[in-house]
Amino acid sequence: MGIDHLIQVSKPNITEADILAVAETLRRGFVSGDAPTVREFEHSFAAATCRSYGVAVANGSVALDITLYALGLRDGDEVVIPSFTIASCLFAVLRTGAKPVFTDVHPTTWNLSIRELERVVTPRTRALIAVHTYGLPIEMDPILEFCAERNITIVEDAAESHTVTYNGKLCGSFGLASTFSFYANKAITCGEGGMVVTDDAEFAARIRGLRNLSFLPAPGPRFVHEEIGWNSRLSALQAALGKSQLARMNDVTTEKRRIGLSYHEILAAHPELVMQPTETNYSKNMYWVVGVLLPDRCDARHVATELRERGIDTRPFFFPLHRQPLLARYSLADQAPLPVSERLGSHGLYLPSFVGITDSEIMQSALALVEIVNNS
Ligand SMILES: Cc1ncc(COP(=O)(O)O)c(C=O)c1O
Repeated sequence: MGIDHLIQVSKPNITEADILAVAETLRRGFVSGDAPTVREFEHSFAAATCRSYGVAVANGSVALDITLYALGLRDGDEVVIPSFTIASCLFAVLRTGAKPVFTDVHPTTWNLSIRELERVVTPRTRALIAVHTYGLPIEMDPILEFCAERNITIVEDAAESHTVTYNGKLCGSFGLASTFSFYANKAITCGEGGMVVTDDAEFAARIRGLRNLSFLPAPGPRFVHEEIGWNSRLSALQAALGKSQLARMNDVTTEKRRIGLSYHEILAAHPELVMQPTETNYSKNMYWVVGVLLPDRCDARHVATELRERGIDTRPFFFPLHRQPLLARYSLADQAPLPVSERLGSHGLYLPSFVGITDSEIMQSALALVEIVNNS
């Protein structure tokens, strides 16, 4: 079936205002990473996440890479990450030379929880990457307290939780620093892009340096480097798009939640199909994606193929990080089972939820899923 006939999982939401904003930047001759447009985007995005500083980078993965590098981790240090998340978290830890330590996630929220953290922490734990999964926040208070007592640095990965709040405080405003992605399927997009936000001026300056080839700050001599760096600058074109999108970020995430609630309402009559909760006592789910966990008897890949044959696109859930083949290269392949992450990885898929999806497309997608599962 051609892509035109598919109900897609996600589509970028680009308006005339976005196009004009990019054109305007070009007209002003601003193209590269040192243009004022980038600084404007950084200021606006940091303010929108209640942070003092924002440093725009090329994507959400490199935001993690640079942030983890800037922690100055040493051999033997451990960094805790949830197994059920994007590989970028694992790569960022491995690149520093520290040891990734995997936690399972909570069976209801699909997020890391304090109980899992307590289980894996050791005297060598230096940092935690706190990922809010699919638009629902982690229960932060016990984790903040636990980490503060043990001097464990929290890096928050809020790539999937733009505008979401935990007890009224925005995701992206917890911990030493928080990272975001502006990939095409995120709540705002630059095509590709990311941001590190923090309240720590020194840390922000460090990220800023690392992102730009570790040039010495002015008035230091040009082309003299004291350490390795990245060229991970965001271009002015991307920043212009991001800044324009930022103006309606709240509208987009409100719409995402509405779509998630619609699916939830339809699927509530089918308890075999499990979604993340619509809300917890500390937060409301933004439903960055509408994930559904299938019953044991269903093969997620088979269900995805059948849905595609009916014109409905899906994506599988994350493959658990503690089972990634690449761990063998680091002598880390021998990991204990993490049953919730494993079950999510093998039995989860997410449904179309782009901004602009119609109620009938939601109904069609949900009912097709129900029918396929009932016949499995
Ligand atoms: C939680 C999380 N962190 C990081 C990333 C990586 O972002 P990017 O694709 O911009 O590199 C993603 C991407 O989906 C993500 O979901």
